Amino acid sequence: MTVRKLLLLPGDGIGKETMAEVRKFIVAMNDKFNAGFETEEGLVGGSAYDAHGVAISEEDMAKAMAADAVLFGAVGGPKWDSVPYDVRPEAGLLRLRKDLALFANLRPAICYPALATASSLKPEVVEGLDILIVRELTGGVYFGSPKEIIDLGNGQKRGIDTQVYDTYEIERISAVAFELARTRKNKVCSMEKRNVMKSGVLWNEVVTATHKAKFSDVQLEHMLADAGGMQLVRWPKQFDVIVTDNLFGDMLSDIASMLTGSLGMLPSASLGAPDATTGKRKAMYEPVHGSAPDIAGQGIANPIAMIASFAMCLRYSFNMITEADNLERAIANVLEQGIRTGDIMAEGAKKVGTTEMGDAILAEFLKLSA
Ligand code: NAD
Ligand code: IPM
Ligand code: MN
Repeated sequence: MTVRKLLLLPGDGIGKETMAEVRKFIVAMNDKFNAGFETEEGLVGGSAYDAHGVAISEEDMAKAMAADAVLFGAVGGPKWDSVPYDVRPEAGLLRLRKDLALFANLRPAICYPALATASSLKPEVVEGLDILIVRELTGGVYFGSPKEIIDLGNGQKRGIDTQVYDTYEIERISAVAFELARTRKNKVCSMEKRNVMKSGVLWNEVVTATHKAKFSDVQLEHMLADAGGMQLVRWPKQFDVIVTDNLFGDMLSDIASMLTGSLGMLPSASLGAPDATTGKRKAMYEPVHGSAPDIAGQGIANPIAMIASFAMCLRYSFNMITEADNLERAIANVLEQGIRTGDIMAEGAKKVGTTEMGDAILAEFLKLSA
């Protein structure tokens, strides 16, 4: 039997609650279909800080390195607002991304038909929406140096972050975007700010050159990232794949989440390069949302982003395409049945908590898989 090694890092806040729902799928798939998942658990974020004084321990990093895939919940919260910068909860997530070299973050924003009225935009704007944001995840202003606060000695301080991109980083992320576009509507829109940023000028040049060299069959468009944000809320269906840098991708994907009804709906896959000999990629699956301190501990968080991230794990790490399709269909069906968590609640729908939503999707998934 194939062994599939998963590391579960629930993290903080609602991360623990939404990961509990994914555990049910893992157990059920092992029991019913001999899926062969072997799971380990670890601590990340504030939970790791409380236990070990760091945002992720070396032991858990080693487990992440050894796993076929990592499932990540969420980190952060007001409890850790004043811990030292280097060990703040978010540092654990950033270290995982950097050390596993997960440079490609796929953030699909799909508006399920049943949720067209849950978006803050008009239903006709979002109905049938299916876009994919490809966010560069290991470079840019998140990781460039210098990154520091210096004392200018005159009562003033200076905060510095540095946006850095090298050719190879732009080449590989745009190649991922072009390849994925070929499996979709064959359109890529690259977003940067070449009118202000040198890294934007280079980004534009390299995306254009990569397109010309290897992907000229794909339709390519360039857009300034601020205009891209505007177009995302004006008429998002004009897009297929959007490729952009780390910081713009962060913001644009939060915007895109509201097109789908809620931030609680958006999954993501963070992928590394395929290994030269085995072809296997390191991968982590992480919802786009955070630890939601305002609703944590109440059992009301929407687990769909986490469950859909697990579906992406089945698809991208284990090539379990039928299972991934069934899981995504199960989510759509449950929404169709009018079962809703508070964030996507609609008139006449049945309001449920995190556990009931997870149970309903699991029941539907098992029905579809029978
Ligand atoms: P957030 O995503 O945690 O929450 C933003 C809003 O969306 C809140 O009102 C929250 O209740 C709601 N929301 C988010 N996920 C939801 C879900 N699944 N179901 C229902 N409602 C949901 O963002 P924030 O409040 O800006 O940040 C809180 C903490 O999370 C911060 O420490 C931040 O750094 C961290 N964060 C972590 C990640 C991550 O771990 N991947 C991502 C974003 C933010
Ligand atoms: C995300 C989050 C993270 C990011 C934070 C928590 C480090 O906002 O995954 O979107 O900025 O990348
Ligand atoms: Mn974000």
